[in-house]
Amino acid sequence: MVGLQWGDEGKGKVVDYLAGQYDAVARFNGGSNAGHTVVIGERRHTFHLIPSGALKGKDLLIGAGVVVDPVVLGEELSLLPDGVKRKLMVDGRCSLVSPMDKQLDAVLEEMKGSSAIGTTKRGIGPAYAARALRLSPRVSDLMRGFDFAAMVRFYEKLSVNPQGLIAWSEESKRLLGSLLGSASDRITEINERGGNVLFEGSQGTLLDLLHGSYPFVTGTHTIASYIPASLGIPPSAAGEPLGVMKCYATRVGSGPFPTEVTGPVADNIRSIGNEYGATTGRPRRIGWLDLVALRYSIALNGVKKVAVSKLDVLSQVKEFKACVAYKYQGSESADFQGSLAHLEEVEPVYESPLSLHGSRYDNGLPEEGKKLVGYLEEELRVNVSLVSHGEERSKTIEL
Ligand code: IMO
Ligand code: MG
Repeated sequence: MVGLQWGDEGKGKVVDYLAGQYDAVARFNGGSNAGHTVVIGERRHTFHLIPSGALKGKDLLIGAGVVVDPVVLGEELSLLPDGVKRKLMVDGRCSLVSPMDKQLDAVLEEMKGSSAIGTTKRGIGPAYAARALRLSPRVSDLMRGFDFAAMVRFYEKLSVNPQGLIAWSEESKRLLGSLLGSASDRITEINERGGNVLFEGSQGTLLDLLHGSYPFVTGTHTIASYIPASLGIPPSAAGEPLGVMKCYATRVGSGPFPTEVTGPVADNIRSIGNEYGATTGRPRRIGWLDLVALRYSIALNGVKKVAVSKLDVLSQVKEFKACVAYKYQGSESADFQGSLAHLEEVEPVYESPLSLHGSRYDNGLPEEGKKLVGYLEEELRVNVSLVSHGEERSKTIEL
């Protein structure tokens, strides 16, 4: 499962809903920058590092391509039933997010001034960078005893304060010791006995480090082709990707957003859709559905099946617009890839094919919802397999 937009597509809800059909749920990218919310009745939990299948009692795997912040992991575990810890395995090859990575994230953002990315300040970029620099310990290195000398010298040179590192590493060892394992071995085992695993992506395709709107992206890969690399399984074991999309668009942080709207229309959608970051609480930027960007994401991930979220929001909004092309220097194009260099300047070309205003979901998918599904299936050449019309678990319709 991958996000097809700029993150916050409703992935947590979809994973929780589908997890019943799987033996395990594995996170394969990002870290505690993710905020995947699951709502069951009055109960609400936002997952940052722990896979969103936790409330379904599934085995939970954190793959090697995830950067693990032991402090956040400990906090998250403390909010969940005790049994969750017994189900959780953290791959020994995961890199850790150290307290210095979080400091460095903040320092870098400040240094960039007006070109700051608007990161979650969870230390994600620096943790992946430290991995590439071969500077930081993996979970397994920490257990064996890691020599922090080079890392400390590096951070001191950068004026990032390494104080507290040893206490942090001891605390992390205590937490991670019992969780350590090999996600690839576990997945192979599950597959060999005929079981299956749901791979839970975080962030969205357009935030991918290589294929997103660089430099306004996250520190790693968010696309389906990262699943086998991250988890250490052959590409053939990764299965069919499911894309998750919202029926409008949002973005948190800086960077180009061609279909962005501001003013009362955006404020209204933000308030109805509760579009505030689940990790940082920041108000999300709001935009209309962007079919140009979605087609790019769908092609990049090889997605044939999508889940569409937040139909209930559009039922409370009078307008609905979909961007069918971008206009740049007088000419129209529907090529997102070709627009990447000038995404800041493109003008969206809209159509208003339908309205969901006033639609109700008490008796399944209403006519207006069916029209939207038909429209998306035709425009995006995918099958819509799941529709969500509210954050609560039961407000889901399988098609
Ligand atoms: P989920 O999994 C939305 C955004 C940040 C920022 C950029 C880089 O809940 O969809 P980072 O801290 O990753 O270096 O920030 O990426 N971002 C997200 N936006 N949803 C997320 O996760 C995000 N994780 C990171 O806002 O623009
Ligand atoms: Mg989120």
